Amino acid sequence: METLPIFYSTQTGHNLELALWFVNQFRNAGVDTMTVNMATANPILLTKVPTALIITGTYGMGELAFEALPFVEKLRQLSLTHLQCGVTGIGDRYYHNDFCKAVDVVAKAVTTAGASLLTPPLKIDLEFTADDWQRLNQLAIQLIQIVQAV
Ligand SMILES: Cc1cc2nc3c(=O)[nH]c(=O)nc-3n(C[C@H](O)[C@H](O)[C@H](O)COP(=O)(O)O)c2cc1C
Repeated sequence: METLPIFYSTQTGHNLELALWFVNQFRNAGVDTMTVNMATANPILLTKVPTALIITGTYGMGELAFEALPFVEKLRQLSLTHLQCGVTGIGDRYYHNDFCKAVDVVAKAVTTAGASLLTPPLKIDLEFTADDWQRLNQLAIQLIQIVQAV
């Protein structure tokens, strides 16, 4: 079975916590996984896996963290037509129109590279709702099913 990579970007730890929640879901389902910080990752790994999860925080005014920019810029230039990708991230609704904007930036980069999104980008507020957990669970199940089918 393929390993299911989780790429994350975090500054204060929330999005790493979310990544670790997915790690638990995957391991409980018997799926091998690894977490990779976008600050140091090479997106070329995405050319070698059938599915992946990308989790990003939003900073500035609706921007990616500075250290995640090279990863997303390189990703955009790859050919990822084989890839089915989940994209999510925790932001803060306090930022209104900029709420979780970096999640949209990553989703756009992924589709520009030819990959398909498993769900619309999942934007999660710091104060998780029951609906958020349901959507995250659903995404985890979809990712697990893809890896198990390979
Ligand atoms: C300086 C600063 C700017 C932020 N800008 C945004 C923003 O534009 N949109 C948003 O949804 N959240 C914004 N946030 C909130 C963070 O995205 C949120 O706290 C998130 O949980 C941080 O993730 P992390 O703990 O993984 O770094 C901002 C936070 C800081 C400190």
